[in-house]
Amino acid sequence: MSEHEEIINRFEEAGQGHVFRFWDTLSEDRREHLIAQAKEIDLAEIDHLIQTLVKGDQGVHLDLSGLRPAPYIALPEHGGDQAAWAEARLAGEKALRAGKVAAFTVAGGQGTRLGYAGPKGTFPVTPVRRHSLFQVFAEKLLAAERRYECELLWFLMTSHANHEDTVAFFEENHFFGLNPDRVHFFRQGRMPAVDFEGKIILEAPDAIAMSPDGHGGALRALVRSGAVNRMELAGVDIVSYFQVDNPLVRCIDPAFIGFHLQSGSEMSSKMVPKAYEKEKVGHFCIQNGRLVVVEYSDMPDELTSMRDENGELRFRAGSIAIHLLSREFIRRMGEGTSDVVLPFHRAEKKIPFVDDAGATHKPEQPNGVKFEMFVFDALPFAQNPIVVETKRSDEFSPVKNAEGIDSPATCRADQLKLFARWMNASGIAVPVDENGVPTIAIEIAPTFATDEDSFAESWAALDPKPEIRDGLVLA
Ligand code: UD1
Repeated sequence: MSEHEEIINRFEEAGQGHVFRFWDTLSEDRREHLIAQAKEIDLAEIDHLIQTLVKGDQGVHLDLSGLRPAPYIALPEHGGDQAAWAEARLAGEKALRAGKVAAFTVAGGQGTRLGYAGPKGTFPVTPVRRHSLFQVFAEKLLAAERRYECELLWFLMTSHANHEDTVAFFEENHFFGLNPDRVHFFRQGRMPAVDFEGKIILEAPDAIAMSPDGHGGALRALVRSGAVNRMELAGVDIVSYFQVDNPLVRCIDPAFIGFHLQSGSEMSSKMVPKAYEKEKVGHFCIQNGRLVVVEYSDMPDELTSMRDENGELRFRAGSIAIHLLSREFIRRMGEGTSDVVLPFHRAEKKIPFVDDAGATHKPEQPNGVKFEMFVFDALPFAQNPIVVETKRSDEFSPVKNAEGIDSPATCRADQLKLFARWMNASGIAVPVDENGVPTIAIEIAPTFATDEDSFAESWAALDPKPEIRDGLVLA
């Protein structure tokens, strides 16, 4: 039996033979295309997901019993121990100088809400120079390399849809000054979409409807792509994980790294107190003695609105999707054994499908299910996981929507406010409007400063000092 026949047989036995119903009409190269997609699919895994998440009810009735708010390490200004923060910072700096840390960006999302055509990381985000999200991260890594005299590896997870454009963007921009040998791209895995009867959906006669397997797919993709082995060879023990949508993120944060190391944590996460009850962030909770994140869409209203004795939200620890993961924890989770495996979530979507005549249709209503894994679902499997507070205005202003909250406009205002705050701390006045947003556009490159202290240092060294005016760039 040829390899093709063998694959087609396996799909038929699994009740998915319809995927090849146009086979006889396809040219040789189109057949190869379809077969290559079919080979990506783990039929046993898909069958399990269909039985549990499509035909079963596991996706509908999540277990939300016994949830308690998760404890976290508070910032000194919210009662945290100043000395412990200073000590953690030193421990993190030591690990950085020893080359133990790598950066990792998940950039495989489809970015549908933003309505921007290219990979999201290429979106021009900074207020004056209009630098891309990727460039902001690259410059933060350059700054960390200089500060800690180390060579950082940077891993970026792309998708099948945006991989080539992402790599080309880095090449065109000469990797923003980073050493290309240390920037490592890999594609995340894909999953087929299925209809409500559990049949894999064809989007064209020669194409299965495949979509990225969620940022949780990063763990197995890091293993499969050889990234974890590469880390081991380079002596990297800790991976600093962040999303592509948030230019304020401290890509490399010594205090966070220090707390992670001191507590023997395998996975650590940052939180900010939620801004309001319905804010669309995951909630850090404890369930059955384990740290879990419950997505905003799954959290019942009676819990999101609950207040503590101080009148603050009881479940206030919001996830901003910034984590540290130990290398061997990624390996364990990514290799996946029967008892250590990330669950899949189901999402009902409008999925283009092909009719019997071979024409593709875009449905008006959800017609099927996509499967995604979430990286924070690894937390309950981690030893000694911790949650560490950070300040929203310092570290979280994602670009998610074209307008309104979490949009390019709010992110621009947040960057301006942050730069003005650093300048104010050095005694430099910046004119602001009634909302505290600077009325002049200013930009501080990460290579000039990444926080108040580094700003003060770089500013003190500037001679002569520039005039504070609209369009000022400090780089
Ligand atoms: C996410 C988190 C939410 C958190 C919020 C903070 C989920 C399900 N929720 O929400 O808990 O509070 O961010 O901003 O993640 N990505 C991939 N591959 C994929 C899917 C996504 O790499 O298959 C990447 C995206 O490129 C992006 C990140 O993951 O960098 C987040 O994805 P997105 O779908 O935008 O998550 P949110 O719903 O905004």
